[in-house]
Amino acid sequence: MADSQQPNAQKLDAPSETLREQPLDYEAAWDQYGQQWREWYPHQAHAGDEWTGEGAGAARSLAEYEALIEREFVAPYIAPTDTVLEIGVGGGRTARILKRYCQHLVCADISSQMLQATRDRLGEVGVTYVKLDGKTLAGITPGSIDVCFCYDTMVHLEPRDIFNYLTQIPALMRGKRLCLFHHANTLSELGWQKFLSEWQYNLMGRRQGTAFSVMTPAIMERFLSHLGYTVQRQELTLVPRDCVWICQAPVSTDA
Ligand SMILES: C[S@@+](CC[C@H](N)C(=O)[O-])C[C@H]1O[C@@H](n2cnc3c(N)ncnc32)[C@H](O)[C@@H]1O
Repeated sequence: MADSQQPNAQKLDAPSETLREQPLDYEAAWDQYGQQWREWYPHQAHAGDEWTGEGAGAARSLAEYEALIEREFVAPYIAPTDTVLEIGVGGGRTARILKRYCQHLVCADISSQMLQATRDRLGEVGVTYVKLDGKTLAGITPGSIDVCFCYDTMVHLEPRDIFNYLTQIPALMRGKRLCLFHHANTLSELGWQKFLSEWQYNLMGRRQGTAFSVMTPAIMERFLSHLGYTVQRQELTLVPRDCVWICQAPVSTDA
């Protein structure tokens, strides 16, 4: 493992010119999910309604989970004049709730299949759709977002990918610059059970795009404080497998 004190550390840490590292293909994995969900859940109206919160220890049914998300994470934070960005919209389960509370909703996702599922559900009025490339948040107008919401998406993102998005979010924000981030907590009891159920399928740096990431609140706290976010609330009990943060993005120096 490279030690940053050693002279060759930079070379060892930089991408290799001779080895072709394979990207972690979130896009292909979620496009495949978007194509296959109907086969897996033939009696369900919308993709993503299978995420009922039971695995997260948060609810016993979809209705209960949606009520919790609305009551705890949407209603207290979103005003009718807000423009809200959701990163990773899935089939529009949370986006549908957000849309009821805000003036304009920007739905962003790496998978065109999942974006289409949300478009089929929410339509075009008051909603914009942005296909992401996974590295940047290009396509979202800088300084146009009051609230950035990322629920049930960072649970699948590698920590460095989470950090990368966190570096870019401040430039998109305006007004109250409020953010909600939800990620895995591998060291919680349920997070640990999830880790044990998946580790053997994700070895040698290869990783299934829909797998859970190995992530903790302590890592997220370091990310947020390093980047200048102000934490308003850290929630570890309502969704016991995971961790949810409400925070304010720093004023962007790019603005
Ligand atoms: C479990 S779904 C989230 C569902 C939705 N937020 C909800 O609450 O119902 C995860 C979504 O994140 C998207 N996604 C995965 N990796 C991503 C990335 N790197 N950037 C943006 N979206 C990503 C997937 O395509 C998928 O639609």
